[in-house]
Amino acid sequence: MPDSTPQRFTDLAALRHCVAGWRAAGERVVLVPTMGALHEGHLALMAEARQIGRRTVASIFVNPTQFGPNEDFSRYPRDLAADLALLAQAGADAAWTPEVDTMYPPGFATRIEVAGLSEGLCGPFRPGHFAGVATVVTKLLNQVRPDVALFGEKDFQQLRVIQQAVADLDLAVEIRGVPTLREIDGLALSSRNRYLAPEERAVAPKLHAVLADIAAASRNGTPVAGRIAAGKAALEAAGFRVQYLAVCDARTLAPVERVDGPARVLTAAFLGRTRLIDNLSV
Ligand code: PAF
Repeated sequence: MPDSTPQRFTDLAALRHCVAGWRAAGERVVLVPTMGALHEGHLALMAEARQIGRRTVASIFVNPTQFGPNEDFSRYPRDLAADLALLAQAGADAAWTPEVDTMYPPGFATRIEVAGLSEGLCGPFRPGHFAGVATVVTKLLNQVRPDVALFGEKDFQQLRVIQQAVADLDLAVEIRGVPTLREIDGLALSSRNRYLAPEERAVAPKLHAVLADIAAASRNGTPVAGRIAAGKAALEAAGFRVQYLAVCDARTLAPVERVDGPARVLTAAFLGRTRLIDNLSV
């Protein structure tokens, strides 16, 4: 595994100059957008990036516009030194770490809304979240101008929203999803897992277990409603507060009553104060 400190940029002109040099040399550039608090899941994205391109850039920006007023923006874990050390291990060429004022200077007035895909699942529980994500990701893509950008499938609705925005806006970048990395007990890796108290951490893998049961039971085209109700009851009995648990068309994210094409089972649930999301292919 390589270990050399990535070039860190906080100035957009300097970042653009660097990436333009790579592109002029014919080097393929891959971006991994993050909010920092990096973990093995992000490192898997970086490893994938290194397979795809000659140059890899990770962005680290805790984007205020995708957090609601009662969400965890102020307590979101931030440790830039640790993140840069991990990016060095992962062999990243550059880290783009803009300040809030660089991303949203005074007078900033644009928002990208992706209708339809943003409206279900997490949408009603996190008003404005996907507009915040679509806007910041569009900016990151314009700033870095990568050939490919990688996103974890754990945030499957986010991935679909970004794919739609990129297609609709004719952005010249390929968006690829990377399968979720899990702990040995099935819990999806997430920066927010570090909020979990030990007793919550012990219960958290139940989320994946319920998704796996529903995915297995839904494959034969039987109606999904009964399985979803049973899954929700099992999660609530284990101490979760379920926001949604649904089987959806993998492209449109519209709920389906039975599976007859590519589908995904998706959930969001609170354990104490920590909101966990996860999903599986059906
Ligand atoms: O998934 C994330 O970490 C964030 O939503 C993203 C894509 C970096 C945008 O802020």
